[in-house]
Amino acid sequence: MIERIKKAADKIKKAKRITILTGAGISKASGIPTFRGEDGLWGKYSISEFATLEAFHKDPKKVWQWYNYRKKLIKQAEPNKAHYVLVELERIFKDGFALITQNIDNLHTKAGNKSVYELHGNIFEVKCLICNKIYHDQTIYKDDQLPPKCKYCQSIRTRPNVVWFGESLDVELIKKAMALAASCDVFISVGTSGGVQPAAGLPKIAQRMGKYVVEFNAEYSAISMFADDVIIGNAEKTLPMLLNYLTR
Ligand code: NAD
Ligand code: APR
Ligand code: ZN
Repeated sequence: MIERIKKAADKIKKAKRITILTGAGISKASGIPTFRGEDGLWGKYSISEFATLEAFHKDPKKVWQWYNYRKKLIKQAEPNKAHYVLVELERIFKDGFALITQNIDNLHTKAGNKSVYELHGNIFEVKCLICNKIYHDQTIYKDDQLPPKCKYCQSIRTRPNVVWFGESLDVELIKKAMALAASCDVFISVGTSGGVQPAAGLPKIAQRMGKYVVEFNAEYSAISMFADDVIIGNAEKTLPMLLNYLTR
Protein backbone atom coordinates (compact mmCIF):
# COMPACT_ATOMS: atom_id res chain seq x y z
CA MET A 1 0.00 0.00 0.00
CA ILE A 2 2.86 2.36 0.79
CA GLU A 3 4.18 2.07 -2.76
CA ARG A 4 0.77 3.02 -4.17
CA ILE A 5 0.50 6.00 -1.80
CA LYS A 6 3.99 7.16 -2.86
CA LYS A 7 3.00 6.79 -6.54
CA ALA A 8 -0.22 8.77 -5.97
CA ALA A 9 1.79 11.46 -4.16
CA ASP A 10 4.23 11.71 -7.09
CA LYS A 11 1.33 12.09 -9.56
CA ILE A 12 -0.31 14.76 -7.37
CA LYS A 13 3.01 16.65 -7.01
CA LYS A 14 3.15 16.98 -10.81
CA ALA A 15 -0.52 18.00 -11.11
CA LYS A 16 -1.83 21.53 -11.54
CA ARG A 17 -5.52 20.66 -11.03
CA ILE A 18 -6.96 18.01 -8.75
CA THR A 19 -10.64 17.02 -8.44
CA ILE A 20 -11.81 15.03 -5.43
CA LEU A 21 -15.07 13.05 -5.04
CA THR A 22 -16.08 12.04 -1.52
CA GLY A 23 -18.77 9.75 -0.13
CA ALA A 24 -20.03 8.69 3.27
CA GLY A 25 -16.86 6.72 4.02
CA ILE A 26 -14.83 9.87 4.67
CA SER A 27 -17.23 10.81 7.48
CA LYS A 28 -17.41 7.39 9.13
CA ALA A 29 -14.51 8.20 11.48
CA SER A 30 -16.50 11.26 12.54
CA GLY A 31 -19.20 8.93 13.84
CA ILE A 32 -21.65 9.32 10.93
CA PRO A 33 -22.85 5.92 9.63
CA THR A 34 -22.40 5.18 5.94
CA PHE A 35 -25.40 4.20 3.84
CA ARG A 36 -24.44 0.68 2.76
CA GLY A 37 -22.32 -2.10 4.24
CA GLU A 38 -22.55 -3.26 7.83
CA ASP A 39 -24.39 -0.78 10.14
CA GLY A 40 -25.29 1.26 7.04
CA LEU A 41 -28.19 3.68 7.34
CA TRP A 42 -30.30 1.98 4.67
CA GLY A 43 -30.01 -1.26 6.61
CA LYS A 44 -31.86 0.38 9.50
CA TYR A 45 -34.21 2.84 7.82
CA SER A 46 -36.36 2.30 4.78
CA ILE A 47 -35.47 4.59 1.88
CA SER A 48 -39.09 4.60 0.71
CA GLU A 49 -40.22 5.82 4.13
CA PHE A 50 -37.74 8.66 4.58
CA ALA A 51 -35.70 9.45 1.48
CA THR A 52 -38.08 9.92 -1.43
CA LEU A 53 -40.28 12.80 -2.59
CA GLU A 54 -43.32 10.53 -2.27
CA ALA A 55 -42.52 9.82 1.37
CA PHE A 56 -42.22 13.56 2.00
CA HIS A 57 -45.55 14.42 0.35
CA LYS A 58 -47.23 11.56 2.19
CA ASP A 59 -46.04 12.70 5.63
CA PRO A 60 -43.84 15.84 5.64
CA LYS A 61 -43.72 15.98 9.44
CA LYS A 62 -42.43 12.38 9.71
CA VAL A 63 -39.67 13.00 7.12
CA TRP A 64 -38.74 16.26 8.86
CA GLN A 65 -38.56 14.44 12.21
CA TRP A 66 -36.18 11.88 10.71
CA TYR A 67 -33.96 14.55 9.17
CA ASN A 68 -33.98 16.49 12.43
CA TYR A 69 -32.91 13.33 14.26
CA ARG A 70 -30.03 12.93 11.78
CA LYS A 71 -29.25 16.66 12.00
CA LYS A 72 -28.85 16.45 15.79
CA LEU A 73 -26.37 13.53 15.37
CA ILE A 74 -24.48 15.24 12.54
CA LYS A 75 -24.33 18.58 14.36
CA GLN A 76 -22.22 16.92 17.08
CA ALA A 77 -19.86 15.35 14.53
CA GLU A 78 -16.44 16.87 14.06
CA PRO A 79 -14.33 16.63 10.89
CA ASN A 80 -11.66 13.91 11.10
CA LYS A 81 -8.04 13.75 9.85
CA ALA A 82 -9.18 12.79 6.35
CA HIS A 83 -11.26 15.98 6.06
CA TYR A 84 -8.33 18.10 7.21
CA VAL A 85 -6.02 16.58 4.57
CA LEU A 86 -8.45 17.89 1.91
CA VAL A 87 -8.28 21.36 3.52
CA GLU A 88 -4.48 21.21 3.22
CA LEU A 89 -4.74 20.08 -0.42
CA GLU A 90 -6.95 23.10 -1.16
CA ARG A 91 -4.35 25.35 0.48
CA ILE A 92 -1.66 23.85 -1.76
CA PHE A 93 -3.62 23.77 -5.04
CA LYS A 94 -5.70 26.93 -4.48
CA ASP A 95 -8.04 27.40 -7.48
CA GLY A 96 -6.65 24.23 -9.07
CA PHE A 97 -8.56 22.34 -6.36
CA ALA A 98 -12.18 21.14 -6.58
CA LEU A 99 -14.07 19.04 -4.04
CA ILE A 100 -17.29 17.29 -5.09
CA THR A 101 -19.16 15.56 -2.29
CA GLN A 102 -22.20 13.29 -2.10
CA ASN A 103 -22.31 13.92 1.63
CA ILE A 104 -24.91 16.21 3.16
CA ASP A 105 -23.17 16.48 6.54
CA ASN A 106 -21.45 19.86 5.95
CA LEU A 107 -18.19 18.43 7.40
CA HIS A 108 -15.97 19.59 4.50
CA THR A 109 -17.13 23.18 5.05
CA LYS A 110 -16.84 22.75 8.83
CA ALA A 111 -13.24 21.54 8.35
CA GLY A 112 -12.42 24.66 6.30
CA ASN A 113 -12.74 23.72 2.61
CA LYS A 114 -14.03 26.61 0.51
CA SER A 115 -14.63 25.04 -2.93
CA VAL A 116 -17.22 22.35 -2.10
CA TYR A 117 -19.81 21.14 -4.64
CA GLU A 118 -22.59 19.41 -2.67
CA LEU A 119 -24.22 17.11 -5.23
CA HIS A 120 -26.88 15.85 -2.80
CA GLY A 121 -27.48 19.05 -0.89
CA ASN A 122 -26.86 19.89 2.73
CA ILE A 123 -28.82 18.62 5.73
CA PHE A 124 -28.54 22.04 7.41
CA GLU A 125 -30.24 23.78 4.51
CA VAL A 126 -33.97 24.39 4.21
CA LYS A 127 -35.63 24.80 0.79
CA CYS A 128 -38.97 26.60 0.51
CA LEU A 129 -41.31 25.07 -2.05
CA ILE A 130 -43.23 28.35 -2.38
CA CYS A 131 -40.56 31.04 -2.79
CA ASN A 132 -37.75 28.59 -3.73
CA LYS A 133 -35.38 30.25 -1.28
CA ILE A 134 -32.67 28.01 0.15
CA TYR A 135 -31.17 29.02 3.46
CA HIS A 136 -28.54 27.55 5.71
CA ASP A 137 -30.18 27.22 9.07
CA GLN A 138 -28.38 25.45 11.89
CA THR A 139 -31.50 25.78 14.03
CA ILE A 140 -32.66 22.50 15.37
CA TYR A 141 -36.41 22.78 15.18
CA LYS A 142 -38.50 21.92 18.17
CA ASP A 143 -41.00 19.23 17.11
CA ASP A 144 -43.92 21.64 17.25
CA GLN A 145 -42.26 23.68 14.51
CA LEU A 146 -42.21 20.92 11.90
CA PRO A 147 -42.21 21.60 8.98
CA PRO A 148 -40.26 24.82 9.77
CA LYS A 149 -41.69 28.13 8.63
CA CYS A 150 -39.85 29.81 5.73
CA LYS A 151 -38.19 32.91 7.13
CA TYR A 152 -38.81 34.77 3.86
CA CYS A 153 -42.43 34.03 2.94
CA GLN A 154 -43.63 32.40 6.20
CA SER A 155 -44.88 29.32 4.30
CA ILE A 156 -44.57 25.95 6.07
CA ARG A 157 -44.24 24.20 2.72
CA THR A 158 -40.51 23.69 3.32
CA ARG A 159 -38.27 20.63 2.81
CA PRO A 160 -34.73 19.61 3.74
CA ASN A 161 -32.50 20.76 0.89
CA VAL A 162 -31.20 17.25 0.12
CA VAL A 163 -31.58 15.12 -3.04
CA TRP A 164 -33.87 12.14 -2.49
CA PHE A 165 -33.94 8.82 -4.31
CA GLY A 166 -35.46 9.16 -7.73
CA GLU A 167 -34.92 12.92 -7.84
CA SER A 168 -32.74 14.48 -10.47
CA LEU A 169 -29.74 16.44 -9.33
CA ASP A 170 -29.30 20.09 -10.21
CA VAL A 171 -28.30 19.85 -13.88
CA GLU A 172 -25.93 22.85 -13.81
CA LEU A 173 -24.21 21.35 -10.75
CA ILE A 174 -23.75 17.94 -12.34
CA LYS A 175 -22.52 19.55 -15.56
CA LYS A 176 -19.93 21.47 -13.51
CA ALA A 177 -18.93 18.27 -11.69
CA MET A 178 -18.50 16.46 -15.00
CA ALA A 179 -16.37 19.31 -16.36
CA LEU A 180 -14.20 19.21 -13.21
CA ALA A 181 -13.72 15.45 -13.69
CA ALA A 182 -12.75 15.97 -17.34
CA SER A 183 -10.42 18.94 -16.80
CA CYS A 184 -8.32 17.86 -13.81
CA ASP A 185 -4.87 16.24 -13.95
CA VAL A 186 -5.59 13.90 -11.04
CA PHE A 187 -9.00 12.58 -9.86
CA ILE A 188 -9.20 11.26 -6.29
CA SER A 189 -12.21 9.23 -5.04
CA VAL A 190 -12.54 8.87 -1.25
CA GLY A 191 -15.02 6.71 0.65
CA THR A 192 -17.76 6.12 -1.88
CA SER A 193 -19.20 2.78 -2.98
CA GLY A 194 -20.10 4.23 -6.38
CA GLY A 195 -23.64 3.09 -5.64
CA VAL A 196 -25.60 5.90 -7.30
CA GLN A 197 -25.47 7.90 -10.47
CA PRO A 198 -24.52 10.45 -11.66
CA ALA A 199 -21.83 10.83 -8.95
CA ALA A 200 -20.51 7.34 -9.60
CA GLY A 201 -19.92 8.22 -13.26
CA LEU A 202 -17.41 10.98 -12.49
CA PRO A 203 -14.32 8.74 -12.02
CA LYS A 204 -15.18 7.06 -15.33
CA ILE A 205 -15.18 10.44 -17.10
CA ALA A 206 -11.74 11.22 -15.65
CA GLN A 207 -10.40 7.81 -16.66
CA ARG A 208 -11.88 8.15 -20.21
CA MET A 209 -10.11 11.52 -20.50
CA GLY A 210 -6.80 9.86 -19.62
CA LYS A 211 -6.46 11.43 -16.16
CA TYR A 212 -4.70 9.64 -13.30
CA VAL A 213 -7.48 8.26 -11.06
CA VAL A 214 -6.75 7.05 -7.52
CA GLU A 215 -9.29 5.62 -5.05
CA PHE A 216 -9.01 5.67 -1.26
CA ASN A 217 -11.57 3.23 0.20
CA ALA A 218 -11.88 0.72 3.02
CA GLU A 219 -12.72 -1.94 0.40
CA TYR A 220 -13.02 -2.37 -3.35
CA SER A 221 -16.02 -0.57 -4.83
CA ALA A 222 -17.81 0.03 -8.13
CA ILE A 223 -15.32 2.87 -8.64
CA SER A 224 -12.24 0.62 -8.39
CA MET A 225 -12.42 -0.53 -12.00
CA PHE A 226 -11.91 3.08 -13.16
CA ALA A 227 -8.95 3.74 -10.86
CA ASP A 228 -5.28 3.45 -11.88
CA ASP A 229 -4.52 2.77 -8.22
CA VAL A 230 -6.77 1.62 -5.36
CA ILE A 231 -5.50 2.26 -1.83
CA ILE A 232 -7.40 0.04 0.57
CA GLY A 233 -7.55 1.34 4.13
CA ASN A 234 -9.37 3.82 6.32
CA ALA A 235 -9.13 7.31 4.79
CA GLU A 236 -8.43 8.86 8.18
CA LYS A 237 -5.17 6.86 8.09
CA THR A 238 -4.32 6.69 4.36
CA LEU A 239 -4.94 10.35 3.47
CA PRO A 240 -2.57 11.67 6.17
CA MET A 241 0.06 9.24 4.81
CA LEU A 242 -0.51 10.70 1.33
CA LEU A 243 -0.09 14.24 2.66
CA ASN A 244 3.09 13.17 4.45
CA TYR A 245 4.67 12.02 1.17
CA LEU A 246 3.31 15.09 -0.63
CA THR A 247 4.90 17.56 1.73
CA ARG A 248 8.28 15.78 2.14
P1 NAD B 1 -30.01 7.11 -9.18
O1 NAD B 1 -28.76 6.35 -9.38
O2 NAD B 1 -31.31 6.44 -9.41
O3 NAD B 1 -29.95 8.45 -10.06
C1 NAD B 1 -29.69 9.63 -9.44
C2 NAD B 1 -30.69 10.63 -9.93
O4 NAD B 1 -29.92 11.57 -10.64
C3 NAD B 1 -31.77 10.05 -10.86
O5 NAD B 1 -33.03 10.35 -10.33
C4 NAD B 1 -31.53 10.74 -12.19
O6 NAD B 1 -32.70 11.46 -12.58
C5 NAD B 1 -30.48 11.78 -11.88
N1 NAD B 1 -29.41 11.73 -12.86
C6 NAD B 1 -28.75 10.64 -13.27
N2 NAD B 1 -27.84 11.00 -14.19
C7 NAD B 1 -27.93 12.35 -14.31
C8 NAD B 1 -27.25 13.31 -15.09
N3 NAD B 1 -26.29 12.94 -15.95
N4 NAD B 1 -27.58 14.61 -14.97
C9 NAD B 1 -28.57 14.98 -14.10
N5 NAD B 1 -29.25 14.11 -13.33
C10 NAD B 1 -28.92 12.82 -13.47
O7 NAD B 1 -29.95 7.66 -7.70
P2 NAD B 1 -31.07 7.38 -6.68
O8 NAD B 1 -30.63 6.16 -5.94
O9 NAD B 1 -32.40 7.46 -7.34
O10 NAD B 1 -30.95 8.67 -5.72
C11 NAD B 1 -31.14 9.94 -6.32
C12 NAD B 1 -30.01 10.81 -5.83
O11 NAD B 1 -30.32 11.23 -4.52
C13 NAD B 1 -28.74 10.03 -5.78
O12 NAD B 1 -27.69 10.82 -6.20
C14 NAD B 1 -28.64 9.68 -4.30
O13 NAD B 1 -27.31 9.59 -3.93
C15 NAD B 1 -29.27 10.88 -3.66
N6 NAD B 1 -29.82 10.53 -2.35
C16 NAD B 1 -29.54 11.37 -1.31
C17 NAD B 1 -30.02 11.04 -0.08
C18 NAD B 1 -29.70 11.92 1.07
O14 NAD B 1 -30.09 11.64 2.19
N7 NAD B 1 -28.94 12.96 0.77
C19 NAD B 1 -30.78 9.90 0.15
C20 NAD B 1 -31.05 9.11 -0.95
C21 NAD B 1 -30.56 9.43 -2.21
N1 APR C 1 -12.29 5.13 4.88
C1 APR C 1 -12.51 4.98 3.56
N2 APR C 1 -13.62 4.41 3.03
C2 APR C 1 -14.54 3.96 3.90
C3 APR C 1 -14.41 4.07 5.31
C4 APR C 1 -13.21 4.68 5.79
N3 APR C 1 -12.95 4.84 7.11
N4 APR C 1 -15.49 3.50 5.90
C5 APR C 1 -16.30 3.08 4.89
N5 APR C 1 -15.72 3.35 3.71
C6 APR C 1 -16.25 3.10 2.37
C7 APR C 1 -17.03 1.81 2.22
O1 APR C 1 -16.14 0.79 1.85
C8 APR C 1 -17.99 2.18 1.06
O2 APR C 1 -17.40 1.88 -0.18
O3 APR C 1 -17.19 4.13 2.12
C9 APR C 1 -18.15 3.69 1.18
C10 APR C 1 -19.53 4.12 1.68
O4 APR C 1 -20.46 3.76 0.67
P1 APR C 1 -22.01 4.14 0.86
O5 APR C 1 -22.45 3.79 2.24
O6 APR C 1 -22.72 3.57 -0.31
O7 APR C 1 -22.02 5.73 0.79
P2 APR C 1 -21.93 6.61 -0.54
O8 APR C 1 -21.06 5.97 -1.56
O9 APR C 1 -21.59 7.98 -0.08
O10 APR C 1 -23.45 6.62 -1.07
C11 APR C 1 -23.74 7.46 -2.22
O11 APR C 1 -26.10 7.12 -1.97
O12 APR C 1 -27.87 6.84 -0.53
C12 APR C 1 -27.23 7.75 -1.33
O13 APR C 1 -27.22 10.05 -1.05
C13 APR C 1 -26.71 8.88 -0.52
O14 APR C 1 -24.79 10.21 -0.95
C14 APR C 1 -25.21 8.88 -0.76
C15 APR C 1 -25.08 8.09 -2.03
ZN1 ZN D 1 -40.56 30.82 1.28
